[in-house]
Amino acid sequence: MKVLEAKFVQDFIKLCAEGYRKGWHERNGGNLSYRIKDEEINLIKENLIDCDYQDIGTEVPFLKNEYFLVTGSGKYMMNVPLDPEDNICIIKLDETGTKFKIVWGLKNGGRPTSELPSHLMNLEVVKRRTNDKYRIVYHCHATNIIALTFVLPLKNEVFTRELREMATECPVVFPDGVGVVPWMVPGGKDIAVATSKLMEKFDVAIWAHHGIFGTGPDFDTTFGLVDTVEKSAEILVKVLSMSNTKLQTITRENFIDLAKDFKVTLNEDALNCK
Ligand code: 13P
Ligand code: ZN
Repeated sequence: MKVLEAKFVQDFIKLCAEGYRKGWHERNGGNLSYRIKDEEINLIKENLIDCDYQDIGTEVPFLKNEYFLVTGSGKYMMNVPLDPEDNICIIKLDETGTKFKIVWGLKNGGRPTSELPSHLMNLEVVKRRTNDKYRIVYHCHATNIIALTFVLPLKNEVFTRELREMATECPVVFPDGVGVVPWMVPGGKDIAVATSKLMEKFDVAIWAHHGIFGTGPDFDTTFGLVDTVEKSAEILVKVLSMSNTKLQTITRENFIDLAKDFKVTLNEDALNCK
């Protein structure tokens, strides 16, 4: 099978297009990675090429020898559906989990996203945490979430509570809440370590004054998660623009009732945060 015919490649492209349509990917902003299943790589193996290994810039031994579909550095999400082979690539990790090689894509040259250390470290943490279930890490520059990082305290429990209050579905979509990384230089190991630490507990990490990282088992769930967080952020931006006091909101008791009926366990720190 041709690489572009594979369902996971089509789903990957669809997410890139949808994120761009949402306005979350100005210029080359944002990136996406998918940990490919063995059966999926077997379907397209005849199209993969060999090439030299390069350093990842961090260590992910739990992902050794695995294959990933990732966006290219400096590439525009807008262009992914128009010419996937120029904008995305498949990489394979070596047997130590410290190096990668490009085995398909980026036909005119280039390298995987500069956030590869964050993507791989997050994928490693969530592979372990979810017992192999989670395969996707998505980073975008969602406008309203970024705006909130200028006015809310950069605390996990504050962001979780404020976002949850804005939409009844939130506690069900992200019962564990969201984590927040203070401003850091992007593209390196330090921010990857800080983000992956949060991913041990949360499906969402917010990068102050930069964007958001979301993770999940499939493309729709991961995109839906980020979409829900950003929608709540948009409502909160509107509420804060109208008034700095809420006349009414979803209360702690309401959340407890909701959690009971929807059979989710809510993160206690956010529940008890005033
Ligand atoms: P890349 O073009 O290297 O993926 O970087 C975009 C970005 O959003 C960095 O945080
Ligand atoms: Zn970014």
